[in-house]
Amino acid sequence: MNTFAQIYGRAPEGEWAAPGRVNLIGEHTDYNLGFVLPIALPQTVRAQARRRDDGLLRLHSTREGGAVVEVAVADLAPGGVTGWAGYPAAVAWALREAGHEVGGAELSLDSDVPTGAGLSSSAALECAVALAYNDLYGLGLSAPELALIAQRAENAFVGVPCGIMDQMASLCCRAGAALHLDSRDLTMRQVPVDLAGAGLALLVLDTRVKHDLGDGAYAALRAGCERAAGLLGLPALRDLGPADLPAALAHLPDELRPLVRHVVTENERVAEAVAHLDAGDLAALGPILTAGHASLRDDYRVSCPETDLAVSAAVAAGAHGARMTGGGFGGSVIALVDATAAGPVAAEVTAAFREAGYATPRTLTAVPAEGARRIA
Ligand code: GLA
Repeated sequence: MNTFAQIYGRAPEGEWAAPGRVNLIGEHTDYNLGFVLPIALPQTVRAQARRRDDGLLRLHSTREGGAVVEVAVADLAPGGVTGWAGYPAAVAWALREAGHEVGGAELSLDSDVPTGAGLSSSAALECAVALAYNDLYGLGLSAPELALIAQRAENAFVGVPCGIMDQMASLCCRAGAALHLDSRDLTMRQVPVDLAGAGLALLVLDTRVKHDLGDGAYAALRAGCERAAGLLGLPALRDLGPADLPAALAHLPDELRPLVRHVVTENERVAEAVAHLDAGDLAALGPILTAGHASLRDDYRVSCPETDLAVSAAVAAGAHGARMTGGGFGGSVIALVDATAAGPVAAEVTAAFREAGYATPRTLTAVPAEGARRIA
């Protein structure tokens, strides 16, 4: 008998999986309505689920111990459910807020997406649940529509003012490709990324420094960007091109200049990276990644000593380039390496961490995997 049947005494109606992600380039651009380039990871959150007609949402997570959290869907209100169960509850709430007449369900959740590592375990959880609800209640929503529901769940119920990248990555990425997404209108293109064919590998180095976007720093950065756009008379920083950057910077108070410089240059780096991928020159991404890290470290200031060390040690060990990925304040670094160098580069970074007295980083190799889907 599987876990669901053990918990709920009957079989699930189906099982849905949604992956975590790493972003190749385009960080802190999504809420500025700019461009991002994530890939989905093979690691997923899986939701086994069955519809309930009594309006109760019952939640179980194999990762979070045995207890079943139970809540009446009609009673859901922002902040009313906290911890891991808050994410699936938030999705049910956001669906109802958007006018979809969804009721109860019982869910059993499992995951191999590392948590607190900047790999979007929360978005994967939201998206697995959103997809399950979509099928259980026959809502017929598209992947981008579900992504917007999941983002609203996180913004308004969980209380993290994230952009749209992670939910779109989890729902819309395709195996073998990066998702080139315009965060303003959600137009997207699958850009082939054949790492193995190019003799390359993408290392993910989880620094084990807890990444937590709920502590206000992320919200403050987002607010700073929105203030800058307002002062410049623009709908969003996405509307500022590199040619207009010097004049714009001269117009802004000191504290906002580095934020704006990062966003404008980062959008350019996404365009450059896509051009190299389209030309089949994957190794040329390396210097773009490293330049992106410098911008996040020096201008946006969301790196930390551990991510900085992982980047410099990886590059010193022969990586084509490396950068922190995700929101920052810890989390993971990606390093583009020759396939044959993956082991040695990981070993060098681990040795540098030991030397610095940091925790041993967790290492995985990322291949662009398939986005969220029904698996049973
Ligand atoms: C987090 C957020 C995303 C995005 C990144 C930074 O992952 O959830 O929306 O803003 O940080 O690029």
